[in-house]
Amino acid sequence: MPRATKDKNCLPGIVTALPGPKAKTLIAKDKQYISSSYTRGAPVVAHKAWGAMIEDPDGNRFLDFCAGIAVCSTGHCHPKVVEAINNQANSLIHMSGTDFYYEPQIKLAETLAGIAPGKSPKKVFYCNSGAEAVEAGMKLARYHSKRPRFIAFQGSFHGRTFGGMSLSCSKVVHKRYFAPLLPQIDHIPYANCLRCAYKLTYPKCEMHCVHILEDYYFKHVIPPEEVAAIVVEAIQGEGGYVVPPPEFHQTLKKIAEKYKILYMVDEVQSGMGRTGKMFAIEHWGIEPDIVAVAKGIASGLPLGAIIAKADVMNWEPGSHASTFGGNPVACAAANATIQLLESELMDNARKMGEILIKGFRQLQKRFTVIGDVRGHGLMIGIEFVTDRRTMAPDPKLRDAVVEEAYKHGIILLGCGSNTLRLCPPLIVNREQCEFVIDTVGKSLETLAPPGKN
Ligand SMILES: Cc1ncc(COP(=O)(O)O)c(C=O)c1O
Repeated sequence: MPRATKDKNCLPGIVTALPGPKAKTLIAKDKQYISSSYTRGAPVVAHKAWGAMIEDPDGNRFLDFCAGIAVCSTGHCHPKVVEAINNQANSLIHMSGTDFYYEPQIKLAETLAGIAPGKSPKKVFYCNSGAEAVEAGMKLARYHSKRPRFIAFQGSFHGRTFGGMSLSCSKVVHKRYFAPLLPQIDHIPYANCLRCAYKLTYPKCEMHCVHILEDYYFKHVIPPEEVAAIVVEAIQGEGGYVVPPPEFHQTLKKIAEKYKILYMVDEVQSGMGRTGKMFAIEHWGIEPDIVAVAKGIASGLPLGAIIAKADVMNWEPGSHASTFGGNPVACAAANATIQLLESELMDNARKMGEILIKGFRQLQKRFTVIGDVRGHGLMIGIEFVTDRRTMAPDPKLRDAVVEEAYKHGIILLGCGSNTLRLCPPLIVNREQCEFVIDTVGKSLETLAPPGKN
């Protein structure tokens, strides 16, 4: 278990005006030389990091509640991950795993095949990122099914390659001026989309997209026998940390089976222990045909993978490969990461998640601007609204909360239009969680005092 601690190194310590002078100089150079396409949040320059803490070059210490966007699952520079990386780098750094063989890649595939949801035998394809994993999944789905089309979801995010971008449906800026995108992709509403027109037909039902798919799309828009895969996030990430209702994935999977459509689950953000289970889809108890993972798998080294049923991953040699995918050092980091997740960190994610949910639900009772508090483990979304009677989104308030947190040394990010995302490293401790709840509560007293909204 991560230590419960009063150690001040585990809480923020701000010693300069933010950003500090060294950070300012670096940010100015960054602006000069680095692509303008990056969306920069708070001006935090990471100099060194440990556990859930990041220190900037001016000596300011931040509590990292976004984990490099759900990547540093075991915390920053976990000694066991660093040791695994060092040992591997001292013996073998690269030997293209698509043409030759090495143990860390084989060992990791055996582990992933063993921990993937469901009992069917599995096989693994390696790549370097979430988008590449999604891309590989799309190619495999087409190859295996010999069908061209995909069904994806409103609010989804699957990466920035042409395939991932075409599946995504969360922000127009991801697509502007990049057309033509991949054809043959239809987006349907995700889970309990409140604005879904189908609510009129099924007013009490929370799974409009499931009905819409069979009753409308498969009758009027999409020939189901042309669909290779339904591509779905177990819990929607960039779209707002949206947790679908209990029967959602089971019902959708049944429809997929009925029409011999593959069920491909994107676990890039929700997977690798983040939700208190190794894969978030386990909360719904179904076995996908293809699972895409990346982000948290190797604690910060670039690695992506798809894990597919062995009889689905039946493509011929040469049909897909990647020079760096499954690099020995990244695989060694992943092997160490999974051991830590299984031995202690998934358990910690569940416990710390409960503390955060409970704390934010208490804040919700005090502040009517907190619309919804939802999540599993350490994938938690807090929605900000103008007030709970109308549930009208309040993105400005969410952004103000993120800004206030930064001033107090907490790194937070938003997602969706008005949701605050909490995705700290899974090593985070009780004191750190309580510090975040307390800081957000104090900020709301100024930004949205109770009784004034
Ligand atoms: C669900 C999901 N899929 C795919 C991706 C793309 O991953 P990457 O940025 O590693 O390409 C992301 C990134 O945020 C994601 O959240």
